[in-house]
Amino acid sequence: MDIGEILTVGNELLRMKAEPVNRIGPEYVTLAAKMIEAMHEGKGVGLAGPQIGLMKRIFVIHAEGDTPRVFINPSIIETSQDMVKYEEGCLSVPGIWAEVIRPSAIRIQAWNEKGRPFTLDAGGLLSRIIQHEYDHLEGVLFIDRLSESKRNRILARLEKRKKA
Ligand code: NI
Repeated sequence: MDIGEILTVGNELLRMKAEPVNRIGPEYVTLAAKMIEAMHEGKGVGLAGPQIGLMKRIFVIHAEGDTPRVFINPSIIETSQDMVKYEEGCLSVPGIWAEVIRPSAIRIQAWNEKGRPFTLDAGGLLSRIIQHEYDHLEGVLFIDRLSESKRNRILARLEKRKKA
């Protein structure tokens, strides 16, 4: 499994649902390390499989002040009632930042790159990044969570930039 370029909005793979990983073999240790490297190179705080054209349910994150974390076959099993607004960006939507409203805290279950299951209660920035990355596995981008007019403005801006 090699890592290519990071796909950007307009690529239809970003709009597809990723498949569960059947068996977390030793190749996932290498893959996770490569994904973490690519995330750091892009100065991102998260990277999901579909963003590199890998349609598997895996993402990596690195919140400030935390260590990098790997999530395979994750499920968000609880979300808090209270919602918060927080500015998001995405390596697949380059140069765009917008405030998105999401639950403030979550509980997530997943496996790490060594095939070990874990449960994590996340709040703050960690919760935010996890929810953003989880969306990628469902073919959802953060701009989908904005109002239609806001999203259209962003898409028009990206289109204009592509032509320039
Ligand atoms: Ni993203």
